[in-house]
Amino acid sequence: MHDIHQLLRSHRSIRKFVAEELDDQVVNDLVRSGLSAATSSNLQATTVIRVRSQDVKEQIADVAGGQQQIVSAGAFLVWCADLNRTRRACEAAGGSMTSGMTEQFIIATVDVALAAQNAVVAAEAQGLGICYIGAVRNDPQRVSDLLELPDDVYPVFGLCIGEPAQDPEVKPRLPLDVVLKDDIYSIEGEAEAIREYDEVVSEYYRTRSGGRKDSSWTQEMAGLVDGEKRPHMRPFLANRGFELR
Ligand SMILES: Cc1cc2nc3c(=O)[nH]c(=O)nc-3n(C[C@H](O)[C@H](O)[C@H](O)COP(=O)(O)O)c2cc1C
Repeated sequence: MHDIHQLLRSHRSIRKFVAEELDDQVVNDLVRSGLSAATSSNLQATTVIRVRSQDVKEQIADVAGGQQQIVSAGAFLVWCADLNRTRRACEAAGGSMTSGMTEQFIIATVDVALAAQNAVVAAEAQGLGICYIGAVRNDPQRVSDLLELPDDVYPVFGLCIGEPAQDPEVKPRLPLDVVLKDDIYSIEGEAEAIREYDEVVSEYYRTRSGGRKDSSWTQEMAGLVDGEKRPHMRPFLANRGFELR
């Protein structure tokens, strides 16, 4: 297998880091490479805030339910979807941005995810570990206030990067034939394949937790999507200029 596949398939989230700041040069290179990802219509709707203040990191960790990797990582970045810069560019060219379109929201969010994942792959290629922090959206208004984000900008996720202080197992993914389909969306054979995958995931959780966690992928998904999740997101986004119309 080509090295790049090996690298990508050895990804695992790291939640314990050597508490040592990453050099500016290292972080700048990662973000720069991230920004080379494809970007819809060259919109480049990504802004990255490197949080240096210990106090702000602790406050964001608090928003994220106490996730200490935010504080201990060598760098903590908040990746923001940014249509504010787009608006200013439009106005500088004598136009006026039509805001609140769902399509623009999708474009900006996808741009951010692609750029961040590019940076992640670059980080992992040099032996660093990463953990995305979607939990910044537990209280996106507080995070926006802390980072002084203007309208038309929202925090999509945080990203911890640093020297790993743990070596967790790789979490098994769904089998390829469940995900990759020929020509049409068929679920033939999927239930059986997912049953087998559930066994693999259960074994993974048992091993990882020393027998304490007994769950499968199917059970995890039921817990995740049965019930409202972050219902504040829609009004928050609307208030920031992402009306989703
Ligand atoms: C957008 C996004 C947000 C995430 N948010 C969190 C988070 O807040 N805290 C955390 O510990 N892991 C977070 N994760 C990591 C996922 O839980 C993890 O990627 C998933 O369980 C698969 O495990 P792996 O990354 O070790 O392969 C997030 C991942 C993504 C892509």
